[in-house]
Amino acid sequence: MPEEATKTRDGGGGVATAEDTLTVTDNRTGETYEVEITDGTVKAMDFRQVKVDEDDFGLMAYDPAFTNTAACRSEITYIDGENGILQHRGYSIEDLTEHSSYLEAAYLLIHGELPTQEQLDEWTHEITIHTYVHENIKRFMEGFRHDAHPMGMLLSTVGALSTFYPGAKDINDDEERHMAAVRLIAKVPTLAAFAYRHSLGLPYNYPDNDLTYPENFLSMMFRMTELKYEPDDRLSRALDVLWILHADHEQNCSTNAVRGVGSSQVDPYSAVAAGVAALYGPLHGGANEAVLRMLSRIEKKENIPDFLEGVKEGNERLMGFGHRVYKNYDPRARIIKEHVDEVFEVTGTNPKLDLAIELEKRALDDDYFSSRKLYPNVDFYSGLIYEALSLPTEMFTVMFAIPRTSGWVAQWLEMIDDKEQKIARPRQVYTGERDREYVAIDERS
Ligand code: SDX
Repeated sequence: MPEEATKTRDGGGGVATAEDTLTVTDNRTGETYEVEITDGTVKAMDFRQVKVDEDDFGLMAYDPAFTNTAACRSEITYIDGENGILQHRGYSIEDLTEHSSYLEAAYLLIHGELPTQEQLDEWTHEITIHTYVHENIKRFMEGFRHDAHPMGMLLSTVGALSTFYPGAKDINDDEERHMAAVRLIAKVPTLAAFAYRHSLGLPYNYPDNDLTYPENFLSMMFRMTELKYEPDDRLSRALDVLWILHADHEQNCSTNAVRGVGSSQVDPYSAVAAGVAALYGPLHGGANEAVLRMLSRIEKKENIPDFLEGVKEGNERLMGFGHRVYKNYDPRARIIKEHVDEVFEVTGTNPKLDLAIELEKRALDDDYFSSRKLYPNVDFYSGLIYEALSLPTEMFTVMFAIPRTSGWVAQWLEMIDDKEQKIARPRQVYTGERDREYVAIDERS
């Protein structure tokens, strides 16, 4: 084994030694194989040499839902699920939510470093002047029914952006990549606000370049007859914090979709549209919407024991609880809980907050949840804030998609530059029929 230092899984230093190998014996043949261990992983392809005879395809790794499979190397987000740690490019989520704006965090995700003031000003200016969408998008949006789910509208209109910027197909052109990143971060809030206004039958509010990114979103969402929307600093700051918390989360379901679709070398708008589609699901970004519906059904504290019994019997899941990686409290849920009161100072409290706190307490005291290491995740409290902002439940996942756009873009950029990556095409274990005789239709029963 070469003596060069190799990065271990946590990014720490370490020198590869002869022990960084795995020796396996195939008991079918008595053959022994030695495979390298790198960054705490073994290469699945190293097991293809394990055969029973020359005609054997060789061993594959079987891992439905990729519960124990690293699909890439990444420098963007580090999560320690056992200890509830989340860092972006090495900076803790606590520091970023304390000191950064969402746009500053988005810059960090994409460029790998916190921006200087000059870089941040330039980044903010570029995004501000690209918040408009082509007027045809409005007509496209008007084709939806009044009760169309805004995630369905967002999914469609983000994909439609690819038709307005055909140059984005040149994914190896630095300027095209940069402009796609700017346009996606700039325009997704506009599409989100247009979808909201469409569902209410209200005229669209155009972007206001005098406002900050979160203030502009609130203006496009809520401005009515006043000429200038007067944003409340506490609400725009709360949005900044919520959006930093939702910006990226390593290889989650929707990021995996963006990387998988992007691996075909499609344009980034189409790849991000795939991420929107994956986020829509109730087990992923749709959970914040499902949490509020769940709290409405529980209605009052007296109903919590029966509800939790139903969950333990497997009738349904405690939405907003559990996580594939976090086996401890999701640090994002803790930070959201700390900011809930600031929002309620402006909007008035949400009566469901006490119910949610009691539900969390009862679940954490119950062995069913603690034995499965099920804790509140980012979606458990976020919906309470969105509801207090008078957003309809259908808009909650859209509020997740807005900031996750910068994470998807950062992951897409990293993927297309990764020399180890190529088109994603998993294998399968075939369990179906083989070599069947064809049956003419008049002989079929
Ligand atoms: C997000 O990956 C990410 O990073 C996602 C995300 C991001 O920022 O991108 O963090 C955002 O999607 C957060 C998760 C939001 N989803 C929900 O809140 C929906 C409810 N949670 C679950 O469905 C579930 O916990 C998942 C989907 C989040 C994780 O599922 P896993 O890792 O596949 O776990 P599992 O389904 O194998 O569950 C393990 C056990 C099972 O019990 P047993 O079969 O062993 O008896 O725990 C149980 C599950 O039944 N379980 C739950 C539960 N979650 C898991 N039981 C009740 N309620 C739950 N919420």
